[in-house]
Amino acid sequence: MMETETVHRQASAKVTRSNKLNDLSGRDWIKFTKSWFVHRPDPREDRKIRHPASFPESLVREFVSFFTKKGEIVVDPFVGTGSTLVAALETGRSGIGFEIVKKYAGISKERVRDVLAQRRASKEATKSKSSWAKIITADSAKLSKIWKENAFPPADYCITSPPYWNQLRRSHMRQKGRAEKGLDTTYSDNPDEIGNIGDYQDFQHALKRAFDEVYKVMKPKGYLTIITNNVFTEGKMYPLAFDTVSTLSKEPFAWTPKDEKVWCQDDKTLLPLGVFNAWVGNRHHQYCLIFRKEGQPTAVPSMNVLKKG
Ligand SMILES: C[S@@+](CC[C@H](N)C(=O)[O-])C[C@H]1O[C@@H](n2cnc3c(N)ncnc32)[C@H](O)[C@@H]1O
Repeated sequence: MMETETVHRQASAKVTRSNKLNDLSGRDWIKFTKSWFVHRPDPREDRKIRHPASFPESLVREFVSFFTKKGEIVVDPFVGTGSTLVAALETGRSGIGFEIVKKYAGISKERVRDVLAQRRASKEATKSKSSWAKIITADSAKLSKIWKENAFPPADYCITSPPYWNQLRRSHMRQKGRAEKGLDTTYSDNPDEIGNIGDYQDFQHALKRAFDEVYKVMKPKGYLTIITNNVFTEGKMYPLAFDTVSTLSKEPFAWTPKDEKVWCQDDKTLLPLGVFNAWVGNRHHQYCLIFRKEGQPTAVPSMNVLKKG
């Protein structure tokens, strides 16, 4: 059995009532705190593969089970085909996902419908009938406004994987196989879709804006997990994962960085990158960055104050 699965399968083991964060036993809690894990997701169904960068819901289940209790609310501002919502429902949590591309929001809706239908048909119905999922087709830059309009309660946890800058537009070798099969190789051409931002600094600003929005709807002491990576393009590494930590730590809506867990992918094909010429790594890991909402946002100084200073 894979290590990360163990936590999920044993989640119903002995639970301590004084546990403030989750429903895990001490043993399962400790297991999850290891700084790296190997996760080999099951082969994808046809529907999921239509999205060029979905993450496995089996992985999300592990994080959701650690960072929330049953009945709590999980948000994903870049929900894609809805893996976070499926994982939330499967673990008895509720979920709210934002997705700018209509086609992917539609796939999320179908997947959520399937999980709810399966649940109705099984004995699980009585156990977790109160959990629900909402998919909102919108720019996550408007997240807090939409949240308020819908009177959603504060979020308990956020897990998400934003676009890795505009990497999909650049990684031609990895995308070749998908292009040959006629599958999507980018998310969309929508200029508000942040995977279309060309400038690296502009991308960092867009990320900050989205996670400021999440901060506004998160309960105090709520956690955030971002699955991302550094990017190698045009002969150099852009430290996207490391920069995400410093960008999100900035005031006024400063997330406190807590840790990283490294997802080791030992099931990816090695590509002949730079052979007999120069170093180009086969990047077979991803970072799961962990942040927490601690303290209050600091006031933004007005322009007058800035000028006087
Ligand atoms: C890495 S994918 C997420 C995949 C998702 N975890 C899944 O399993 O399907 C990033 C998603 O963010 C969406 N996205 C990009 N910009 C957005 C924005 N401004 N607001 C909401 N969604 C956005 C993209 O369309 C894409 O589906």
